[in-house]
Amino acid sequence: MIRVALIGTGGISPVHLNYLQKRDDVEIVALCDIKPENLARRQEVYGGKPFEDYHDLIDEIRPDAMWLCTPPQVRREPLTLCAERGIPVLCEKPVGRDFDEARRTADALSKLEARVQVGYVFRSMPIVQRLLEARADDHIHLVQSFYGCNMGITRSFPDWFYDKAISGGALIDQATHNLDLLRMLMGEVSEVRALAANPVQTKEGGYTIDEVISLSLLFADGPAGSHVHTWVGDTWRNEILLIGEKRIYRLGLGSGELTIEEGRETHTLRQDQSRMYEHENAQFLQRVESGDWSDNVCSFDDALATLELTLQADAAITEKSA
Ligand SMILES: NC(=O)c1ccc[n+]([C@@H]2O[C@H](COP(=O)([O-])OP(=O)(O)OC[C@H]3O[C@@H](n4cnc5c(N)ncnc54)[C@H](O)[C@@H]3O)[C@@H](O)[C@H]2O)c1
Repeated sequence: MIRVALIGTGGISPVHLNYLQKRDDVEIVALCDIKPENLARRQEVYGGKPFEDYHDLIDEIRPDAMWLCTPPQVRREPLTLCAERGIPVLCEKPVGRDFDEARRTADALSKLEARVQVGYVFRSMPIVQRLLEARADDHIHLVQSFYGCNMGITRSFPDWFYDKAISGGALIDQATHNLDLLRMLMGEVSEVRALAANPVQTKEGGYTIDEVISLSLLFADGPAGSHVHTWVGDTWRNEILLIGEKRIYRLGLGSGELTIEEGRETHTLRQDQSRMYEHENAQFLQRVESGDWSDNVCSFDDALATLELTLQADAAITEKSA
């Protein structure tokens, strides 16, 4: 039995806990949150010993694996405490809000030979693996990425998401998923330009996020691309279009569909989106069980490079607005 624990029982935690609860070989032994109401809500459903302080949890329970689902300011201490005790961690993205702080965390984790998988969930999706296979004999020179949702209109998320200083807003909290996947698929970005605007609500009070963002990207290996993002759209959508010499690939990250167009032929592959987060969790548990981290799908250092790119894009917005 793999004894697992989770810190941060907020919005994202059930997608992990639902899967962990279904596994016969996993026991949820402890949960932790500084907000008793969040902790109680999850503990009722998933069990585990409740803790309001992760120091106590880590020292008393010593789980075989940890899930870290706190806001990005809470990373270094729980990660290093786990590393010191040899506990592998699935750490939610992003790896921080501030680059220097995240780099210090990376340095500390490296010294401790920490085993950390970062939750860039798209990397583990079956349709992304199929895309990698399908485009192996092609050359892609242009990509167009779009992620949209309506959370700027509904204001249904916890307040910290709308405070750009804390969450980083649409770019650093969310576009980071697409930028991370673009790095994985297309290599490093050498140049980024950025524009942003707030067409619905001006920035004031606790609402300081950019509502719509447009990025232009140049990749070091030659391709060009773009990413556009909205928090004031109709609903949740996410797709990336990759234009190759032989084919066009439509990667529906929201719909779970990969459509490949080659001449007049069109092939569509579908994955079960209700199980989208299961793949990264299954891969993490596989590493925990085997002890083999040679194929870690997203190391802390890799995710740090994504944070650096995201912050560069954000700095580009700031320059444009000045
Ligand atoms: N991979 C994804 O698709 C995805 C989706 C949503 C959120 N996330 C990421 O997951 C993280 C959490 O997001 P969320 O939506 O669950 O936020 P949330 O605010 O709903 O939940 C965070 C929880 O962490 C708790 N917390 C804060 N500091 C703590 C501490 N020191 N010790 C213990 N608990 C603490 C809060 O009380 C809260 O319950 C963020 O980094 C976010 O970007 C990832």
